[in-house]
Amino acid sequence: MIPTRIIEAKRDGERIEADDLRAFLNSYATGDTPDYQMSAFLVAVYFNGLDADETDVFVQSMLASGTSLDLSYLGAPRVDKHSTGGVGDKVSLALAPLVASLGVFVPMMSGRGLGHTTGTLDKLEAIPGFRTDLSLSDFKNVLERVGCAMIGQTAEIAPLDKRLYALRDVTGTVAVRPLIAASIMSKKLAEGLTGLLLDVKVGAGAFIPEEDRAIELATTMVDIGSRRGLPTVALLTAMDRPLGCAIGNGLETAEAILCLRGGGPDDLRELLLRQASEMLRLTDPTVGSLAATARAEESLDGGRAFERFAEMVGAQGGDTSVLDDPGRLATAALQGTVVALEAGVVSEVRPKELGQGVVALGGGRQRMDQAIDLGVGFEVQVRPGETVSKGDLLAVVHATDTRGLEIGEQVVRAAVRVGDDSMQSQRPLVSHVVDVSGVSAAT
Ligand code: URA
Repeated sequence: MIPTRIIEAKRDGERIEADDLRAFLNSYATGDTPDYQMSAFLVAVYFNGLDADETDVFVQSMLASGTSLDLSYLGAPRVDKHSTGGVGDKVSLALAPLVASLGVFVPMMSGRGLGHTTGTLDKLEAIPGFRTDLSLSDFKNVLERVGCAMIGQTAEIAPLDKRLYALRDVTGTVAVRPLIAASIMSKKLAEGLTGLLLDVKVGAGAFIPEEDRAIELATTMVDIGSRRGLPTVALLTAMDRPLGCAIGNGLETAEAILCLRGGGPDDLRELLLRQASEMLRLTDPTVGSLAATARAEESLDGGRAFERFAEMVGAQGGDTSVLDDPGRLATAALQGTVVALEAGVVSEVRPKELGQGVVALGGGRQRMDQAIDLGVGFEVQVRPGETVSKGDLLAVVHATDTRGLEIGEQVVRAAVRVGDDSMQSQRPLVSHVVDVSGVSAAT
């Protein structure tokens, strides 16, 4: 296997033989192939794609680069959820403890910020002391005691995905359907699960914005899971606007805590309950959707999910006082308001612009080795369709300095469109369900 030959072949639209592709990926995993050659290959994949067999080699190689957990000794269902990445999507933080509070183990392995989206790990690290780098034995220990644990890709589980993920983040090669599918499924197949829920975002703020391609992505992942004996269901969810109000790591953590306390934005709560219900149904498909949602709602409103979150934060070394005092989360030094310059109807709140704005403020990585600022971001106060008067608050910008406040204001003005009443129609929060039997409209 000659790396330059593999790169040239993909650049020229040729199919790569399984053995050659496997050898190339292994040589990257061992450090023999450098980042610059893998970057060139990824760009070629961006333009020419991977077929089903090549995607399978990616999944196998990433899976085989580490160990797979056997959690069957827990003697109870183990279900995880993974999102393809959205703006303002902080559901995982509340979902893991909520589902754990319902008697289902949630061994959650998440990622850092990717492209214009923030990542669950960075959000958790906004909690002082919270450790996302637990060893596998500590991870299992927390899981056994609390019912859920949240860590990142490790040197032990899918380490090849960890390297490729970080490289894709800074080389403009995130938005590739087979790469997303292989990245997500290799981690999830290593987790020792009995069921998997996927949240496939669709709309302008998603990596794969178009509905038909998002359905293809969902179908690819459901097939990969099902063929390997992991019952997998995907929900297509709206990303034509941000989820909730907070965008930026620490701000999103604060909003997730608010939701666990029974408050927070309606769309966040609705999606949280819907996902919890699907995860419960993955453990027992005979339970109806309404009954599963009611169980989740009772736990959320009864404070049990919040208690689980507090237990998990404590068990993973985090400062639990943030739960009562979100001011102790990572916060930015300065806040500035952006108000409407004219009266009108909010026709759009563009998620991608806001996500890219967080990166511009220092809250996402522009280089692989970059430390990020967990406190910066936006609190958007308006939703598409709302009427505003001149001077009404559109958003609060959180930044480290006055230049950041200026950048933040420009971002809000580009993202939040106020004009006449010609509003684009919005996607339903959950539009489709994809499972082994096919694609159906969500009810
Ligand atoms: N989440 C992942 O783990 N990988 C991707 O490529 C996208 C979202």
